[in-house]
Amino acid sequence: MEAFRGWCGQSVISLYLIVSSRGVILGVLAFVCMCTFFLPAQTLHYTKRPDVENGGKVYRGGCIACHGSDGKGAPMASTVFLRPDTFPDFTDCAGTTPEPNGNWKAAIVHGGPSRGLSQIMPAFGDLLTDDQINDVMAYMRGFCKNVHHYPLGELNLPRALVTEKAFPENELVISTAASASGAPAWTTDIIDERTIIDARTQLETDVPVNYADQGHNWTEGLGDITLAVKREMFSSLKTGSILSLQGGILLPTGDRKRGFGAGTMQLEPFAAFDQLFRENTFLQFQLGADLPVDTSVAPRSMFWRATAGQAMAPDHMLGRLFSPMVEFLATRGFKPGASTNWDVLPEMQITVSRRQHIRTGFGVREPFTNTSGRTPQVVFYMLWDRADGKLWEGWR
Ligand code: HEC
Repeated sequence: MEAFRGWCGQSVISLYLIVSSRGVILGVLAFVCMCTFFLPAQTLHYTKRPDVENGGKVYRGGCIACHGSDGKGAPMASTVFLRPDTFPDFTDCAGTTPEPNGNWKAAIVHGGPSRGLSQIMPAFGDLLTDDQINDVMAYMRGFCKNVHHYPLGELNLPRALVTEKAFPENELVISTAASASGAPAWTTDIIDERTIIDARTQLETDVPVNYADQGHNWTEGLGDITLAVKREMFSSLKTGSILSLQGGILLPTGDRKRGFGAGTMQLEPFAAFDQLFRENTFLQFQLGADLPVDTSVAPRSMFWRATAGQAMAPDHMLGRLFSPMVEFLATRGFKPGASTNWDVLPEMQITVSRRQHIRTGFGVREPFTNTSGRTPQVVFYMLWDRADGKLWEGWR
């Protein structure tokens, strides 16, 4: 709690700094990117194929006493510890598949507390070799029997500020975009993403709240609320790719006169494709359209977005994760000959909590074509991955 309060104070101060000057955030970005340059990146692929059989031996030797022969946890009567509510049931595919190997490995090498988990989970870094740890993880992956029904956590790439990723999520995001020049104006989106039915389908609700200084009158109001369903269509860890389709409706809840909404209901379909490469370099693509029901009020438009990034962490990817990215964002009207608005958005995502379930992203969105009337924006979010624990858990 203490740590959380301290952190809250810090973020309010940093938000103030960020909004007060675009130069500051660009400076911070440049500095953090420079620092991450010195962090090692590790390949997603093992140098040696893990040996599941050997993993079984390691498991029976060191893990079975607590985690049980079936991976659900040893019988209550034979374990003396009090189970934390995050105690894993490794047969629960929906719970384990979103968890990348890196997260497991950190807990196995350095023990539970290194990830804000219980100290009952011992550190095995000095007892087991790197290969043995990879083997035991491969063995434990076998506890989930229908793994091919689920997209794997490795493909859950760092969230970009604007481009929507393909992976179905269970997170709450509060994202703010503020004008960095001209009259002060900002929009905060409260975004809830949760998997429904199965781990491949996601329901998204996005409630935007606008604040703007319009002719020296401070106005505020709701924007157009989005309701959307996303479905993972294809994913493979072998090729590092994931493809999703989303269908959404934007309700006309925003006041059009104040520039807070389109004034008509809109349909928003899109496709998202993400590609992870060796050394944790990644690309994310999104292609979609905004289709107002009443085109006399708002024009139809399409958008395409691309993000290139690199995930890096100290301690061979077991430490805090830093992900510098750059987004290229385009929108264009449907009319023949309509011109395209291009923006570029350099940014950084950093995991804040020890468990890495709280993350922040920040960057500056710069228009670089048709710049008249389009101001640069400072964009910032806080993200809470609900599946990994409560908001106040996992900080130390
Ligand atoms: C003394 C009991 C004990 C032993 C022995 C033990 N574990 Fe654990 N392990 C735990 C507990 C308790 C947790 C749950 C921690 C929490 O959720 O706070 C846990 C959690 C984990 C997790 C989940 C981490 C996450 O990200 O959620 C993994 C993976 C794991 N153990 C692997 C292993 C492996 C591999 C071994 C053997 C090499 C092992 N454990 C041996 C008690 C143990």
